[in-house]
Amino acid sequence: MTQLIEKINNASSLEELENLRIETLGKKGILTLEFAKMKSIPNEEKKAFAQNLNEQKVKVTNAIEAKKVVLEKEALNKKLENEKIDVTRFNNELSCGATHPVVETMDRIITYFQNLNFAVEEGPLVEDDFHNFEALNLPKYHPARDMQDTFYNKDYTLLRTHTSPVQIRTMLKQDPNTPIRMIAPGTVFRRDFDITHTPMFHQIEALVVDDADKVSFANLKHVLVEFLQHMFGDVEVRFRPSFFPFTEPSAEVDISCVFCKGEGCRVCSHTGWLEVLGCGVVDQNVFTAVGYKNKSGYAFGLGVERFAMLIHNIGDLRSLFESDTRLLGQFR
Ligand code: PHE
Repeated sequence: MTQLIEKINNASSLEELENLRIETLGKKGILTLEFAKMKSIPNEEKKAFAQNLNEQKVKVTNAIEAKKVVLEKEALNKKLENEKIDVTRFNNELSCGATHPVVETMDRIITYFQNLNFAVEEGPLVEDDFHNFEALNLPKYHPARDMQDTFYNKDYTLLRTHTSPVQIRTMLKQDPNTPIRMIAPGTVFRRDFDITHTPMFHQIEALVVDDADKVSFANLKHVLVEFLQHMFGDVEVRFRPSFFPFTEPSAEVDISCVFCKGEGCRVCSHTGWLEVLGCGVVDQNVFTAVGYKNKSGYAFGLGVERFAMLIHNIGDLRSLFESDTRLLGQFR
């Protein structure tokens, strides 16, 4: 008995203590087995036998309980010691934010054109009919206005549907004889919401204007091929005749699919080509609207989200605006 108590007092862990408890008081423990002997004890000895056993049981139980308190306290202290927070320690594992893929793509494009000496121009998001449509050769009731799903305000202003009004503002604010080489990045708005459209998105517009014989479609083509290969690597570039009211001739520009290398896949609808921007030679009606004579120019406009999605292989445009850190965290 004293040996057992000694063992209990010397237990070095809670597991060891628990094992001792099972060995003595458990279902097959030595004391439990002693109690089972009661049946075979002569009646007159039963009382003394039981009393003795009970005393032993109380002693053992008390010793275990007392030791348990001590061991638990030790374990807690150890845990506290290990988990101590060193407030002076520098934490270099802090998670930090990242540039949003749309902003990053926008910055890359802006930097590219700044290096080619393009100025960065800005215009208001709340526009008027003249700058957003009329001066861009889109007279009232022109069917091409339907292409743009405009948000109108009650006071005849509207949310700009593209960055092209910045072309008009830039031409109007400066002397017609000063050549223009500008880009206009910014948000635009259209009443549209599905997997490839959000009501707010970003465009970058470009406009180059100089004397009539100085700017041609060939210049535009060269600049765009260089630019698209800078953004997407070794891609083929194709110009497809198209229509915009403010350019003539107009083209839509495709690159060979960056995912299947032109073989045909789901992203390019099995055509091998991805449409990336619209462009053209500035329509003379636009120059007339701003009072420019004997000028020629080219312009193009692109959707920044479309570029970001192709560069980062993002399937759903809407996911760019949901602020889901699981998506955004991948761009660190
Ligand atoms: N503004 C046109 C659009 O939003 C794009 C464009 C810009 C086309 C300049 C030609 C020239 O779709």
